[in-house]
Amino acid sequence: MNINQLRQMKQQGEKIAMVTCYDHASAVILNQSHVDMILVGDSAAMVMHGETSTLPIDIATMAMHTRAVVKGAPDKFVVADMPFMSFRKSLESNMTAVEQLMKTGAHAIKLEGVSGNEELIKHIVQSGVPVMGHLGLTPQSINQFGGFKVQGREQAAQQKIIDQVQLLSDLGAFAVVLECVPAALTEVITKSSDIITIGIGAGNSTDGQVLVMHDLLGYPSSFSPKFVRKYLNTEQLFKDAFNAYAKDVKSQQFPNDEESY
Ligand code: KIV
Repeated sequence: MNINQLRQMKQQGEKIAMVTCYDHASAVILNQSHVDMILVGDSAAMVMHGETSTLPIDIATMAMHTRAVVKGAPDKFVVADMPFMSFRKSLESNMTAVEQLMKTGAHAIKLEGVSGNEELIKHIVQSGVPVMGHLGLTPQSINQFGGFKVQGREQAAQQKIIDQVQLLSDLGAFAVVLECVPAALTEVITKSSDIITIGIGAGNSTDGQVLVMHDLLGYPSSFSPKFVRKYLNTEQLFKDAFNAYAKDVKSQQFPNDEESY
């Protein structure tokens, strides 16, 4: 999968399936699936490291996760997330962070917000790196939002998001994640814009959807937004498997003769 194929999918109205992934073993399975794009999201902070927000993860950790995923999914378009503050320093430091992610083999970077990032986005694009934006509910600004809330409900807020998407497109971003915004708004944006729109909690008019892998697989979670659809009950499946193993160990059913030397 490459950027031209993704653009073609938008043009032809073929929906793009994107999933987050943070580890090599899962990437190997994803590589055999019909998922088109992988996001190594900074949600890794919460999903993989047990943090309560995405803020604590750093660029070295994001690069480590991205490298593992790229190696496991060589056929997929992999987008690496720029973590909190990694792109809000000097241009040199920001570009060093981009370089660290791209040298893992990622195909693009994603960064949250556009206001204040205009020069940087232009510079990244001019450096040959595809940029995916992220608007609406941007989790790195959770302290400013005061919680995980739907964005763009009022007319003024909707116009702001429309303008931000246009600005991202003008700056050369190839795609944008729209998170937790009304479906009617994303429909207007998707129909009127060349940029690829990927929704999460944004209705089904976007060019594609993204979900956190552990949410769609049904891993345990303290917070389950209404936009999550669980395609598997991993929590139960894992518990059953662990309990079956523990039972076999305790009853000396494992290992048996064939599993012994
Ligand atoms: O980090 C992440 O998982 C994301 C998605 C929720 C879009 O940014």
